[in-house]
Amino acid sequence: MSVVKKRDKVTVNTIARMKSRGERIAVLTAYDYYTARLLDQAGIDILLVGDSAANVIHGLTTTLPIGMDIMVGHTAAVSRGREKALVVADMPFLSYQPSHKTAIRNAGRFLAEGNAEAVKVEGGLEMAATVKRLVECGIPVMGHVGLTPQSINRFGGPKVQGKTDASRSYLMESALALEAAGCFSMVLELMASETAAEITSALKTAATIGIGAGPHCDGQVLVINDILGLREPGFKPRFLREYADLPPVISGAAKKFIDDVKSGSYPSDDESFSGKKP
Ligand code: KIV
Repeated sequence: MSVVKKRDKVTVNTIARMKSRGERIAVLTAYDYYTARLLDQAGIDILLVGDSAANVIHGLTTTLPIGMDIMVGHTAAVSRGREKALVVADMPFLSYQPSHKTAIRNAGRFLAEGNAEAVKVEGGLEMAATVKRLVECGIPVMGHVGLTPQSINRFGGPKVQGKTDASRSYLMESALALEAAGCFSMVLELMASETAAEITSALKTAATIGIGAGPHCDGQVLVINDILGLREPGFKPRFLREYADLPPVISGAAKKFIDDVKSGSYPSDDESFSGKKP
């Protein structure tokens, strides 16, 4: 007789426990109800409603233009598909930087309207005071350091961080400040593996979730569209592992449908309603 292990609801406490036990944390982005449901049923620990929705859902070239209303909509849809996973909503550009009041109001919308259980903010040392205020208001926060896409214009492109002494010490100081401010976890994006490893072992409670930050983080995150092959042909960063190739599946289904409509073979009698039959 096979025993099916019951999965408990993932909370921020689960994530802390996983870090302390050395259990790896699996995170994927999601933007819609149905995908969220499939990922949750597959056993994902965290569903991140990333502002990468700007790129992979809305076809924008940066994450900068996506706004609160759209992100709250994506978050609410993902939350409806979630049963066990922790839902984290990504705070869009300028939804938290202008003032603590703005940050609290917008983060609150993700919990109250989007039914998220935590928010994510980009930035290091300079974001620690904002994180502290959000946590004081009862809003769990995931930090995000390294290459932070909302600051892509300042970085001048997707450059690997943490390669120089100055960059390494800024990232370490930032990670420690974010942990002290109350972050339960933080994304380490596009960072030298050695720096990510040092940060991961220096942090006592905040779990590190890497993307392009090597194998020594407490967990890993990838963008769902990317792992399914639903990406621009030229976009294949070194850290990306593809687990499926959906474009030919989708195009093939669409082509068959088009052929069936054009030839008149769809719909058949069985796929139609008759006033004569019950
Ligand atoms: O927006 C996003 O998808 C992210 C992850 C890549 C970490 O921030």
